[in-house]
Amino acid sequence: MIDREFVFNPEDFERIRLLIRSRVGIALSDKKRDLVYSRIARRLRSLGLRTFSDYLDYLAQEQDEMQDFINALTTNLTSFFREAHHFDFLADQMRQVNALGQMRRFTIWSSACSTGEEAYSIAMTAIETFGSWTPPVKILATDVDTHVLAQARQGVYGLERIEKMDVQRLKAFFLKGKGDRQGSVKIRPEVQALVSFQQLNLLAPSWHLRGPFDAIFCRNVMIYFDKPTQYSVLEKFHPLLNESGLLYAGHSESFQHAANLFKSKGKTIYQPVRLASNNKVRR
Ligand SMILES: C[S@@+](CC[C@H](N)C(=O)[O-])C[C@H]1O[C@@H](n2cnc3c(N)ncnc32)[C@H](O)[C@@H]1O
Repeated sequence: MIDREFVFNPEDFERIRLLIRSRVGIALSDKKRDLVYSRIARRLRSLGLRTFSDYLDYLAQEQDEMQDFINALTTNLTSFFREAHHFDFLADQMRQVNALGQMRRFTIWSSACSTGEEAYSIAMTAIETFGSWTPPVKILATDVDTHVLAQARQGVYGLERIEKMDVQRLKAFFLKGKGDRQGSVKIRPEVQALVSFQQLNLLAPSWHLRGPFDAIFCRNVMIYFDKPTQYSVLEKFHPLLNESGLLYAGHSESFQHAANLFKSKGKTIYQPVRLASNNKVRR
């Protein structure tokens, strides 16, 4: 038996598992016991508590702690131009809509944006595609985790985060940090101006969003949800996409169980299934 700093019983793990699943949809398997311990142990340390059971009682009483609890249990791994083929596809999609000569903005929702790399990569793609610092593009970027959203809004990244970036893009879209920001880079304000960040829980009963969107990026978050939860999120995405709108998913995500809602266009890109106007989408 490992000697642990804090008392952590199987019942504590069950309580945590139920709570995080009901709040944000994250389904934790038994294998995540150690991960949960190390993530939540930080909260116990900063609150001066000795046992997980005390922490869970504290959490039940202190509403403000819930956000820290959620922030501690989300996994925020991301990178600039992650799954690069999506950005080539998106550029083509923007060109096609632009070619139709419609006088409207191309709208994109990055629905689990983490620290902002995905949304800023979309903004850079738009600037390159339209050859303008002010392309007719609007990007909404949301996440349930307030900690990553604060970092995303700042747009400041350590050099290790841009190691794999194309040099041309680095020069065009980033400013080198000076003074106490030495060793980091900042996204150029023109890129930041295209993105607005907002907190949003994909599990919330209603999202209060103004669609429709040309593209929804929902990448590498559905893997944490079980299939019924994925389905209910997909049901809400469906009416938010316009006629030619597309859903971009993560590399290991497949929505075959929602074939009545979305059909694959290949490369983890999905198109909403449209039925005759009087027919509702059926499960
Ligand atoms: C692994 S990151 C993926 C980031 C980015 N989409 C990418 O593919 O690089 C998953 C993100 O989903 C967010 N997340 C988890 N549950 C969520 C929920 N219920 N609503 C909104 N965001 C959620 C986490 O906070 C985390 O930042």
